[in-house]
Amino acid sequence: MVTGYLAPEDFVAELQTELGDAVLETHGRLVLADGPARPAAWAANVWHDPVKIEIASIGDAAKKLRAIQRNWALYSAVHHRRAALIAERLPKVSAKPLTFGDPAPTAPLGSWTLLDPNTLLAAPHCSSAFPHGEVAFVEDRTVPSRAYLKLWEAFTVLGVRPQPGQFCIDLGASPGGWTWVLQGLGARVLSIDKAPLDATIAGLPNVEQRRESAFALDPKTVGPVDWLFSDVICYPKRLLATVQKWLAAGNVGRFICTVKFQGATDFEAMRGFAAIPGSRLIHLHYNKHELTWVRL
Ligand SMILES: C[S@@+](CC[C@H](N)C(=O)[O-])C[C@H]1O[C@@H](n2cnc3c(N)ncnc32)[C@H](O)[C@@H]1O
Repeated sequence: MVTGYLAPEDFVAELQTELGDAVLETHGRLVLADGPARPAAWAANVWHDPVKIEIASIGDAAKKLRAIQRNWALYSAVHHRRAALIAERLPKVSAKPLTFGDPAPTAPLGSWTLLDPNTLLAAPHCSSAFPHGEVAFVEDRTVPSRAYLKLWEAFTVLGVRPQPGQFCIDLGASPGGWTWVLQGLGARVLSIDKAPLDATIAGLPNVEQRRESAFALDPKTVGPVDWLFSDVICYPKRLLATVQKWLAAGNVGRFICTVKFQGATDFEAMRGFAAIPGSRLIHLHYNKHELTWVRL
């Protein structure tokens, strides 16, 4: 059995390292690996059970794909022109940006690529509802930082979000994009950062700002916390130690934390996060050289 994993732009090497000896072939950003799907943080989309299909012509290719299902996303690594001509003969898949709050699409979306002019690789069943795992939102240009898009994406793909009245801590909150999202959902937010929040965010109801280090906050001083968020710029191992401190305190319901890599990707720290029971590491489309660690 073979599984396909599509790396985000610029992170093929990370994905190959993660998959290790299981890697069989790489086509652009698409890595084919031996065995059933396994957790892979650096995969933007997982292609389940991809099949090779021989094609006689462009029309034949489109007919064979349509016979399997309606919705397909083309990932083109080679023979771009021929692939595009096939894609033109397939039903259009809506590429409209999502308005935050709308649910993720539910229609099955397959992925395909041309391996050579006469062979398709097609996976009708993929892990993401979005083409290549790339979520695009109708953006709000009034927010002081684009980081809010990471939280919008996390809540959309995970299908959970803070509820009105819940208590959230936002570590590394400034200038305030995440705090803005959480406050907008009706949560109470304690925003911690050495730098100030943007004044428009600091003045919102149910937002308390503390100008101090995220690492100095003692879990015992804050009572029960529904959600702990962190977007602090720090080395991954420092974040791991902080998360472990909060886990040991036992007063946090859910965690969403950005693991930011500075220089080389720290695979050892990644394993440390992945080993925390009930949690996972994902690469969001809006993540750069960073991953999002989630424990729900
Ligand atoms: C990527 S920004 C956060 C953006 C924020 N999530 C938003 O949506 O606006 C990272 C933040 O980490 C903060 N930071 C770095 N070290 C920190 C520390 N030791 N304690 C608290 N905040 C820290 C920086 O001041 C910076 O505001």
